[in-house]
Amino acid sequence: MLKTKNILLGITGGIAAYKAAELTRLLVKTGAKAHVIMTKAATEFITPLTMQTLSNNAVHTEMFNLIDDSKVGHISLALMADLVVVAPATANCIGKVASGIADDLLTTTITACGCPVLFCPAMNDRMWSNPIVQDNVARLQDNGYHVLLPDGGELACKSVGVGRLPDPAVIIASMTHILAPKPLKGLKIVVSAGPTREKIDMVRFMSNRSSGKMGYALAQAAYNYGADVTLVSGPVALQPPMGVKVISVETAAEMHKALEGEIADAYALIMSAAVADFRPKNVFEGKSPKNKMPKSLVLEQNPDILISLSDKKGKCIMVGFAAQEGEDRNAAEKKLADKKLDHIVLNDISENGIGFDCDDNAVTVISADGRANYFQKMPKTEIARNILETIFNVKI
Ligand code: CTP
Repeated sequence: MLKTKNILLGITGGIAAYKAAELTRLLVKTGAKAHVIMTKAATEFITPLTMQTLSNNAVHTEMFNLIDDSKVGHISLALMADLVVVAPATANCIGKVASGIADDLLTTTITACGCPVLFCPAMNDRMWSNPIVQDNVARLQDNGYHVLLPDGGELACKSVGVGRLPDPAVIIASMTHILAPKPLKGLKIVVSAGPTREKIDMVRFMSNRSSGKMGYALAQAAYNYGADVTLVSGPVALQPPMGVKVISVETAAEMHKALEGEIADAYALIMSAAVADFRPKNVFEGKSPKNKMPKSLVLEQNPDILISLSDKKGKCIMVGFAAQEGEDRNAAEKKLADKKLDHIVLNDISENGIGFDCDDNAVTVISADGRANYFQKMPKTEIARNILETIFNVKI
């Protein structure tokens, strides 16, 4: 989403200014064109040379310098930008923009630009909770500016509270969301992700190698494109996707119950979870000593969640995944029919570097109307976009 976009990064004078270096590095990595404006105070914390080297562009610090011999700096920067992000945004900068004060290159540029502007406040927790600062933040939001709220934690001044600049990756996620088109606006989409765990005793369980990355990428992409997303997730080691309601579950039975409650008013269910097909028949109390454990476990089959939900799906679009060894279309088509799905995503799990527990995937989306679309190996974030385009028939 950020590729080739002109991103204007405003850096103001706070200790978190050093994080702007990493933010710029990540931005350039996404393929965006990064242009930096630093306030005078920002240059006390990080040098323009650092930012110039990382952004591959000249850094703007002066109000009255002409760009390209004749162009007026703040106007040409304002016209060129697809998105302005102010990170970190100090109480001073927030207060000035909220009050219409434009007395330096950054505030004049923000006042002149017509593109979205994202403020990422970072400051001491007492400053952040000051009612005037809070009023100013509300005023920015009322006027259509985006604000990424600060995190809690230990601050540079050693006090603990809310005021930390969110991680650069979170800022990038927020920028992506702002710039993404919103063809799924107003639609509730439920996604399931990750493995389920089936208890043997208090500490042992049966599970599988699903990392949840595909489902999390789908949930994040659906949110970016405007959907209201609920993610029902088995145990994974991933950050919750921004803007998404997450319901954490452990067993297949818990996932089943959570999904039943969520799909009643949903536009679509995307079932990417790797649900355990079996569970131990008996769950042992506490941590069973090994000499008391049976040498073989009796298993019983978990109900098929998709089959059970398809019976009461109403108008909900049902999408399943078929984890197959090889590009076995017949098996995937059989699952599509047996589970009464609208689409099934055929996922070859036998090839190294795609499928389970990795960052890339290659899939074929097979639809009940006979269409089949193959997407070659690419990052799961990109696969997610292609899946959404195909199943919802939208251009993103
Ligand atoms: N699924 C489900 N409930 C289960 C098992 C699977 O809802 N108890 C869903 C998965 O989330 C996936 C689809 O069914 O969307 C296909 O899962 P997959 O593991 O590929 O196939 P299975 O139906 O389990 O069949 P098999 O293991 O025999 O290939």
